[in-house]
Parts: sequence; C-alpha cells; structure tokens
Amino acid sequence: MPALVLLGAQWGDEGKGKATDLLGGSVDYVVRYQGGNNAGHTVVVGDQKYALHLLPSGILTPECTPVIGNGVVVDPSVLLSELSGLNERGVDTSKLLISGNAHIITPYNVTLDKVTERFLGKRKIGTTGRGIGPTYADKINRVGIRVQDLYDESILTQKVEAALDVKNQVLTKLFNRRAISTDQVVEELLVYADKLAPYVADTVLVLNQALEDDKVVLFEGGQGTLLDIDHGTYPFVTSSNPTAGGACTGAGVGPTKISRVIGILKAYTTRVGAGPFPTELFDEDGEALRRIGHERGVTTGRDRRCGWFDAVIARYATRVNGLTDFFLTKLDVLTGWEQIPVCVAYEIDGKRVEELPYSQSDFHHAKPIYETLPGWSEDITSAKSFSDLPKNAQAYVKALEEMSGAPISAIGVGPGRDETIEINSFI
Ligand code: GDP
Ligand code: IMO
Ligand code: MG
Repeated sequence: MPALVLLGAQWGDEGKGKATDLLGGSVDYVVRYQGGNNAGHTVVVGDQKYALHLLPSGILTPECTPVIGNGVVVDPSVLLSELSGLNERGVDTSKLLISGNAHIITPYNVTLDKVTERFLGKRKIGTTGRGIGPTYADKINRVGIRVQDLYDESILTQKVEAALDVKNQVLTKLFNRRAISTDQVVEELLVYADKLAPYVADTVLVLNQALEDDKVVLFEGGQGTLLDIDHGTYPFVTSSNPTAGGACTGAGVGPTKISRVIGILKAYTTRVGAGPFPTELFDEDGEALRRIGHERGVTTGRDRRCGWFDAVIARYATRVNGLTDFFLTKLDVLTGWEQIPVCVAYEIDGKRVEELPYSQSDFHHAKPIYETLPGWSEDITSAKSFSDLPKNAQAYVKALEEMSGAPISAIGVGPGRDETIEINSFI
C-alpha cells in the first residue's frame, strides 16, 4: 500500500504543508502533482518556520526525495530562489527531481495574469498573479514551454516565437502594453538551463520504479478541492486539478497504485480571492477566527476570508476524491467559543439541500443551515491523544466525522510537527 495522496478538502490553506511534513519522516518520496507557486505552505519545525511555494514539503526531511511532477507549472526564478533560501538555512536540496515535462511559467504569462485581472475589474478572480492560469492555458492550447525545451535552443526559440505571436497582438492591441521580444525571453530562460539541469529527470519512470520496489510515495496537492478547475466553484478556481485524480495525471502514476487519499480539513473554513463562500462571517467571530488562526496568505499576504465549518463541502470532498481519511487541522483555534455553529445543509430558494448543488447560481445564493455544538475553554495545544481533549472538543470532532463521511485519523492542535494527535496511522 505504498502510494498516498494528501490534498486540501476545502479552498486551500488547510494545513497541507504541516501534514505532509509530518508524514515526510515515514515516506520515501513527496511529489507535487499540480499547481505552482500560487501555493503557500507553512511548515514549522522546532523554532524554525519555513514558507514553501513550489517545493514539496518533503524537502525538509533529509531521507525523503522531493519531486516536482509533470503536472506542476514551474517558475524557474522562484524555484531557484526558494532553493537558495533553503540552502542558506542549511537545508540540503540536492535530492530534488523535476519532471522534464513540467511546464514553465514564462515572464509573459506572469504579465498576462496581472493585466487580465486588471481588465476584468469587478469580475476578477483574485488570482495570486503568479502566471498560473495563462501557463496552464498555454499547455492546453499546445503552445506551452516545457522544462525539457530549455535544453534545445532552436526548439525553445520556435516555441517562444509561436507563443508570442498571438500574445503580442493581445498585449499591444487590447492591453496597450509593449510587445515582448522572443530573443529576450529565450535569453532569460536559457540562463536557467544549467542551474536546473542537475534536477531534471524522468520522474514518471523514477516514481513507478519506486512503487515497484515497495517504496512509499506521498502525493502532495496544492490548493484545494473547491479550487479544482473541474470540481470547484468555477470560474473562481485555480487552473489545475488538486483533486485526487490530478495525482495520476500530474505524476504519471496509475489509479490502481493509490491506496489512501487523505483530505486535509480545517476545523472551520477559509478562502482567499473571489467566489462564493456560504459560511463566510462578516462579524466579530470572523475577525476572531482570522486573528487567532493567523489567517493571512503565505503567498500574497492577503487576509483570508473566514467562516464556520461547512459539512456539505466536506462531504463533497469525500465524494469527489474518494477520501479514505481526514486530517483535521487547527482545532486549537476554536478554543474559547461557548457555542460553535457548524453548517449541516443549505437553504436554497426556500428548500433544504443536503449536498453541494452542481449549479453555480444555486451555490451563489445558498444560505447555511447551522447546528450549534457546545464549545470548550481548556487549552488543547499539548493534547497528545484523543482522550486528552475536553469532552466537548471530542464531541465536536466526532460530529464533524459523522457529517463528513470519512474517519478523522489525525487532529492538529498547533502549527508544530509534534502538535498533532494521531488516531489511525497513515502508513
Ligand atoms: P497549506 O497551504 O494547506 O499548506 O496551509 P498554509 O500553510 O497556507 O496555512 C495553514 C496555517 O496553519 C500555517 O500557518 C500552519 O503553520 C498553520 N497550522 C497548520 N496546522 C495547524 C494546527 O493544527 N493548529 C494551528 N494553530 N495552526 C496550524
Ligand atoms: P495552497 O496550496 C488558497 C486561489 C487564489 C484565487 C484562485 C485562482 O497554499 O492551499 P491562481 O493564482 O491559482 O490562478 O488563483 O485560487 N488560490 C489559493 N487559495 N490557497 C492556495 O494554495 C491557493 N492557490 C490559489 O487566491 O482565488
Ligand atoms: Mg497555503
């Protein structure tokens, strides 16, 4: 049973970095399979805090091989600065492997992301401005640049030229920007070729051989289920598939190899950027969740929108990912509330709805139906086992488990590696 997927069950920032880092000690490979440096994963090891964007969270575990799979979009300048930042702090990054089939975020795609958002005005998605959407669009339009193209100057030049052909028309005629020169882009990209060369590998072969050798491989999703391009709150989503199936296409591993799918679930809900969010709070409870939970984006520094736990979303995540387990994070943040509302269903146009509506129009005016659970006031950050938790905290976890459709196998009670209650072992 060596392949596990770990992914966000809500709108991202559930604590995937911490969970991955925690499991890192028991796995041989940690693989990012989609997304790019739109992700921001905070990992706290002892008194050291790391903010990772593109690198898999397994990079902090020396025994583990971190892999950037073919489904990821790579900004080489961000990758190199993340690597050198870690090296300066004494982290050995030499085991990193990068798929030659991963697509590169080019400077023109970062520009296009920003100008498109500006152009959309009130209708903007609230992207991270890192060029994610335009790079995936190029991939699908078959005008993308892949890591392997850095090693053939003539092909690279032809591909950049083809990509810029239409983009320069858009940039100059629609957005009133200067045209971008092919030579300048090629020159910039070629600088990265030698620097990335030691890491580039046939990661599909490496990972499948590892699985044949019974090594343990952990696939780490970026973003979250509700940000999935197919299964999320489209168009307010990212441009890739964070859901479990994305691990297969984004790493080249068959679904029959995956034995466990772990959904990371915050004990309440947050969201960054635009889009519907039924349990969002605009009152002092929302402020308190933001303050106590330190809900500020790792990548963009934006305040996260905060709200109560939404069991409809959790059930949906269980279904579309085939979740076998949940890892519930940030339970400690809820300490101190006398009563904790939990959304159990929606009211849509006067009707009670138990499951996530497929219609976005319905979802946009879904009103949460709450059940209120009793809170607790005892500090839980040093709890080591489920029975260490106050009775009401235990009941809260059990209620969430029942509503969400998969067992809660671990509980986060603080940001540190050891601030975790393990209930069922993952490996
Ligand atoms: P990711 O994008 O899913 O990796 O999550 P982020 O790192 O963006 O946001 C999660 C934040 O919560 C980080 O600052 C973590 O250090 C922190 N965190 C993770 N688990 C816990 C927990 O159980 N309790 C508390 N208080 N903080 C946590
Ligand atoms: P991690 O991995 C939370 C959101 C953006 C925006 C939308 C599209 O840290 O959980 P994009 O730049 O991807 O085109 O933006 O997706 N978004 C995230 N929100 N956590 C993330 O990553 C996110 N990555 C993208 O805010 O609403
Ligand atoms: Mg994050």
